[in-house]
Amino acid sequence: MKITIFGTGYVGLVTGTCLADVGHDVMCMDVDADKIARLEAGEIPIYEPGLEEMVKANVAEGRLRFTTDPAAAVDFGVLQFIAVGTPPDEDGSADLQYVLAVAETIGRHMTEEKVVVDKSTVPVGTADRVKAAVAGALAERGAAIDFEVCSNPEFLKEGAAIEDFTHGARIIVGTESERVKTLMRECYAPYIRLHDKLMFMDVRAAELTKYAANAMLATKISFMNEIANLAERLGADVEQVRRGIGSDPRIGYQFIYPGCGYGGSCFPKDVQALARTAGEVDYEAELLGAVEAVNRRQKQTLFAKLSRAFDGDLAGRTIALWGLAFKPNTDDMRDAPSRTLMEALWAAGARVQAYDPEAMDECRRLYGEREDLALVEDRVQAVEGADALVICTEWKAFRSVDFAWLKSRLTLPVVVDGRNLFEPETARAAGLLYYAVGRGDSL
Ligand code: UGA
Repeated sequence: MKITIFGTGYVGLVTGTCLADVGHDVMCMDVDADKIARLEAGEIPIYEPGLEEMVKANVAEGRLRFTTDPAAAVDFGVLQFIAVGTPPDEDGSADLQYVLAVAETIGRHMTEEKVVVDKSTVPVGTADRVKAAVAGALAERGAAIDFEVCSNPEFLKEGAAIEDFTHGARIIVGTESERVKTLMRECYAPYIRLHDKLMFMDVRAAELTKYAANAMLATKISFMNEIANLAERLGADVEQVRRGIGSDPRIGYQFIYPGCGYGGSCFPKDVQALARTAGEVDYEAELLGAVEAVNRRQKQTLFAKLSRAFDGDLAGRTIALWGLAFKPNTDDMRDAPSRTLMEALWAAGARVQAYDPEAMDECRRLYGEREDLALVEDRVQAVEGADALVICTEWKAFRSVDFAWLKSRLTLPVVVDGRNLFEPETARAAGLLYYAVGRGDSL
């Protein structure tokens, strides 16, 4: 099947590459010529395990190609996936300018019937706007060609995107058209061999499903962070509580890990956008507002704990950071708790010595050269000469540490663990002033 993907960002590139990998003929289009040139040379602009090899293999096999030519892109696929960004506007709503620009491009260049597939995360009702944009561009040319628009939200996690695409829990398609159903079934047929996880529904239900799923997961995390904060004050261990409640299948073990708050490009943006959508239909989504507020506060707890450990005076201190990415297996630092912490530390006059297995370049890009930031080679160098250590990301390589060695490196020796990687008793027995999240410590 011939498929066009607009947008070679995270979602577009993973979708295009995975679809090529199961035998479809895929063309990925982007307006960024530099990005396309790099992709053609086999250079992947993002870090995602397994993706680079998969891109190269499919380019070599001739099933995956890249272009900056909109006419060629529109001409190519019977399915036209829109997978461009929807960054938050100033007021938190999703900015649809890129999505609508692609819709216009399709309308301007199409010469035969097409199916437009909304893959980008877009507010409920966007399919109608996409339809209007394609129709408008067609009308401008005086052309009358049939087309349809369906919604096909993505559920990829960064760091596990290929696995999620290949073995996801469900494939959601919002459409009422039998023709679209047939084409989308053909597109996803290679993934539904074990059991039929293709779910057809109304367009608006599909659009809302995406936001509801992310908002539910974000709610679980904020709920657990709230319980952790309570546990801290009540002298209870939230890790025991987590196991206690997770064992109830109605609650489940997933996404109830307390920590230093959720980050990334999805949860913060989607929770806000859904609350904003609610406002537009005169409904105050109180729970969503609280989920967001709890998370904002949680991201400040790392600094608050450090500040208390240093009696409110961090000026001139050197703080080691392990982990900059918003979660392991990605170089993404969007809305990462590490950023809230670093910015607060700098404002307080402290220096940061940081290490992350993948996000160093991204950190350099975001903050540039500055006197109060040293990006070092490994986790050992990060603690060299530091007063305290903060763990912001639960990379596998951070999970085992010689506490006696750590104590000998840190001057204070304070460890603030934003991811609950260690047993507090063991760390404290080694002489560390160890503070985790909701584990009976009152700091
Ligand atoms: C999320 C969803 O999990 C995907 O299903 C969805 O497709 C994607 O957003 C999207 O909308 O594109 P992602 O943002 O890549 O995926 O990352 P997650 O693994 O969900 O983690 C999000 C944040 O929650 C991270 O900062 C993580 O540290 C935090 N988290 C996660 C917790 O604090 N506790 C948990 O128990 C789980």
